[in-house]
Amino acid sequence: MRPFDFQNRFSRNLLVLLVVCTFIVVSVSKSKNKEKDSRECKRNNGDDDDDDDSKTLSGDKLLNYLSSKGPYRFDGKNDKQEEYLPFKECKATKIWYFGRHGTRNPGKKDTIRMEKLLPSIRDKIVSAHDACQGQLSKKQVKKLKEWAMTEDVTLENESNLVKQGAKELIGIGKRYRKRFPHLFHNDSSPKIHIKSTKSQRTIASSLAFAQGAFDKSASDVSETIFDPPIKSDPVLKFYENCQKWAEQVDDNPSAYSELTNFESSTIMNHTISQVSDKLGFIDEGLTLEEVTIIYTTCAFETAWKNGKASAWCAAFSKEDLQVMAYREDLEYFWKDGYGHEVNYEQACVPIQDLLEYFRNKTHMTTVRAYFSHSGATLKMIARLGLFEDKISLTSAGFREVKNSYKWRTSLIDMMGTNLAFTLYECKNRPDPEIGFFFQEKPTKISGCDNKWHCPFNQFQDALSNKIGNCDFNMTCSL
Ligand SMILES: *[C@@H]1O[C@H](CO)[C@@H](O)[C@H](O)[C@H]1NC(C)=O
Ligand SMILES: *[C@@H]1O[C@H](CO)[C@@H](O)[C@H](O)[C@H]1NC(C)=O
Ligand SMILES: *[C@@H]1O[C@H](CO)[C@@H](O)[C@H](O)[C@H]1NC(C)=O
Ligand SMILES: *[C@@H]1O[C@H](CO)[C@@H](O)[C@H](O)[C@H]1NC(C)=O
Ligand SMILES: *[C@@H]1O[C@H](CO)[C@@H](O)[C@H](O)[C@H]1NC(C)=O
Repeated sequence: MRPFDFQNRFSRNLLVLLVVCTFIVVSVSKSKNKEKDSRECKRNNGDDDDDDDSKTLSGDKLLNYLSSKGPYRFDGKNDKQEEYLPFKECKATKIWYFGRHGTRNPGKKDTIRMEKLLPSIRDKIVSAHDACQGQLSKKQVKKLKEWAMTEDVTLENESNLVKQGAKELIGIGKRYRKRFPHLFHNDSSPKIHIKSTKSQRTIASSLAFAQGAFDKSASDVSETIFDPPIKSDPVLKFYENCQKWAEQVDDNPSAYSELTNFESSTIMNHTISQVSDKLGFIDEGLTLEEVTIIYTTCAFETAWKNGKASAWCAAFSKEDLQVMAYREDLEYFWKDGYGHEVNYEQACVPIQDLLEYFRNKTHMTTVRAYFSHSGATLKMIARLGLFEDKISLTSAGFREVKNSYKWRTSLIDMMGTNLAFTLYECKNRPDPEIGFFFQEKPTKISGCDNKWHCPFNQFQDALSNKIGNCDFNMTCSL
């Protein structure tokens, strides 16, 4: 072997080695570049993959902004039995319960919008993310990529009570029986009266409540305790018989001008563009309708999963959710709340039913429970003077009140929302005592001088003064 040859072979080998090395270096640096790309992508995104939901609200913080579609969320875990008695020597003799149905399916309009809009929004979010646009984390996008309409969400099932909703009502029934066992002792006793409006969701809610209250399966609850539902029930759905309310409020766009102003305000526009940016809709932003259906789906799905955040909630920051919830609060304020007198004046009807029931010593009913809708409970809340702000909610007022206002439907109008009054006979006290519970908790009420309980006569006088003779026809005639 000649040195030349050796050298030749050596340099050939060297060349091969060099080629191999270059290949390795190039491919390593290529893959490094790729990594760098995605890291740059990530830097734009601002979110670390592992630390996913850091900017997305979850738990109570999320539930505080889901308005009327949020789940019921009082589990009574910290209940103390004695909290439900005004004085030790008292015994409950009657209970009057008025509640909204539990968590349900979306109605017709929302079902159609979900089916029509969400799949293409989902696909655009995924392709935007692949192109390094938007600020969602990998995990958040993955959840959205896997998202599909919930099976049960169909037009056929629109507005129906879902399993989670039945669970909510079973829980409420159970806890009320635990608090007042002697009032709920017999599910075929003529002392129990349960009534609902004529919708699947309220009928099913009343059955679930009875199931919990009498610890029976749905098929075993006696039918005798249910009064037959009637259309436009004068007590449970009084507002459907109120012509003045229909004409001046419900069907009157000018009654909601604060809402429409807010919907085209800079604040709302800012939220729409924030959400569009976050989801990667760079060239063409989302519309208000699209952002709304994302918010509504976030709320419904979170309710169905017992408070576990829906993938769609990732679209919103806390500030965005505040804006979306305020918009709902504005709507309900003007439609059912303090916004217009006729909204709550007509709600004297169920309150009169309560007073008559408690006043009447001749009938022996121990439980009167009603299952109705947001449209009834909110009007009653306003009639009773609860959660009233010093000033009306307006479009321009958002920044000023956003951290302090009381009319928050996320807290006072969630699925399963309930008001209840209890009448007590107390030893050594000549007058019966009345107690008030909101969402199952003893709650201060102005009719009782801002205590949760007071002598029944005091409460009755305070309300009668306000209600007068409750002339529904006069209140509601044009
Ligand atoms: C939806 O409809 C299907 C088929 O009729 C039924 O099996 C299911 O129980 C319904 N779900 C709800 C929540 O109404
Ligand atoms: C429940 O009430 C019904 C109807 O009044 C009565 O026939 C039945 O004996 C009662 N059951 C119990 C366990 O008290
Ligand atoms: C908000 O956006 C809508 C639709 O693009 C527009 O009509 C409206 O003028 C905007 N509002 C403000 C205050 O800029
Ligand atoms: C009291 O209740 C009974 C039984 O429901 C009823 O017949 C009677 O009219 C009521 N009395 C008053 C004053 O409302
Ligand atoms: C209210 O109006 C309805 C329908 O017009 C009538 O049937 C009812 O008797 C009226 N009630 C009172 C208290 O005037």
